[in-house]
Amino acid sequence: MSCYEIEGGRPLTGRLTVQGAKNSALPILAACLLAPEPCEICNCPRLSDVSATLKILSQLGCRVKREGDRVTVDPTNLSSCRIPEQLMGEMRSSVIFMGALLARLGRAELSFPGGCELGPRPIDLHLRGLRAMGAEILEEGGSLRCRWADQREGRELYLTIPSVGATENLMLAACGVPGETTILGAAREPEIVDLQNFLLTLGAEVTGAGTDRITVRGGTGKMHGCTYTVMGDRIAAATYLCAAGAAGGEVELTGVEPEHLAAVLGCLEEAGCRIRTGRGLISLKSGGELQGIGLVRTAPYPGFPTDAQAILMAALAGGRGTTLFEENMFSSRFRHVDELRRMGAQIETAGRAALVMGTGGLHGAAVTSTDLRGGAALVVAGLAAQGTTQVRNLRHIRRGYEKFEETLTALGGKIREVSEP
Ligand code: EPZ
Repeated sequence: MSCYEIEGGRPLTGRLTVQGAKNSALPILAACLLAPEPCEICNCPRLSDVSATLKILSQLGCRVKREGDRVTVDPTNLSSCRIPEQLMGEMRSSVIFMGALLARLGRAELSFPGGCELGPRPIDLHLRGLRAMGAEILEEGGSLRCRWADQREGRELYLTIPSVGATENLMLAACGVPGETTILGAAREPEIVDLQNFLLTLGAEVTGAGTDRITVRGGTGKMHGCTYTVMGDRIAAATYLCAAGAAGGEVELTGVEPEHLAAVLGCLEEAGCRIRTGRGLISLKSGGELQGIGLVRTAPYPGFPTDAQAILMAALAGGRGTTLFEENMFSSRFRHVDELRRMGAQIETAGRAALVMGTGGLHGAAVTSTDLRGGAALVVAGLAAQGTTQVRNLRHIRRGYEKFEETLTALGGKIREVSEP
């Protein structure tokens, strides 16, 4: 097993182009099933979650090829609607394939994605929406067997929670339903706008993404192959910005839209960073010691993203002043707190609240990554801390960060992958 070894206390300075967005690439790759011809996806990040998705596409009979950051998916010979449990288990967001397979083949067989490190990850909203569209879904022994019933036609669907995954799943399924389907209470994340833009490039008729009302005119039969470039990853961008904010330095990020992480930029500015933005450009300058910023509540977009909660917490833990985090999206998203405490952080948690009292500096320690963004948070803390930090369990981090240590090293960070002592 390997781990990151980080020598902290060095400023981060330089320029980087942010990787393609994981949470955009995953639904877009699944949506390639809707095309009867090959699709070329550019700016597709090299991540283990993307590899897991490509394995599923191959398992279904698609021809998949990667050349650099371009992935070609040829679904011409799509031959199966069944995703093996083992592949479903690798990545819970594979549930997105249900809508894509229903739209293309009229049936899908997969297993319940189950929970993850963030707590239970129900899919009741996905299932309720698909059934309302006319899908028959048999749940037996942890597996889901879906097919269209005879009658299926466009109608209004209501999401009681603006679920990102459920919104995406229903958008894809609706592409295979004749007539107009409207999703009310839809999630408004930028990744959903990216998915709509991809579907439009495929020839689908989708409008409203980015608002809470998305309309799909399905069953048009006009789908074709295309070439599409995935948007920049706003959470990866937030990670590098928080790292430079906490360690000090001056970084310039390109390939990501500032408005996609406006809530994070606002927090970093309040904490003492100097932020400048332009089209596809964010620059940050920091003296290092960040200030507490009062209350940070995670919320659906455009609110503060839950995926950046651990990362900002790690950046503030070694600063001054206090910050109260309220995690409203997932029930178990403070698992990084114990690990930050090992580095000297003073954090008290109670239910969905975490009170961070800046200590004026963290010290290095051996810590273990508990989940994707929690692991990234430990790297952010290690880069700012005095001394050496080992971060173990890198498999979590590899799910969402491409060339993580190379990128940080290029910015002046001292981080390398070593075999675990
Ligand atoms: C997406 O997960 C992202 N993953 C997550 O990013 C992100 O944290 C999350 O959206 C929220 O922004 C991908 O896009 C692959 P949700 P998703 O459905 O779609 C509840 C990362 O770090 N809910 O918007 O699974 C759910 O329990 C990952 O990159 C139901 O109750 O999230 C949660 O409390 C982690 N029933 C809330 O909705 C359902 O049927 C939001 O979840 C579905 C969701």
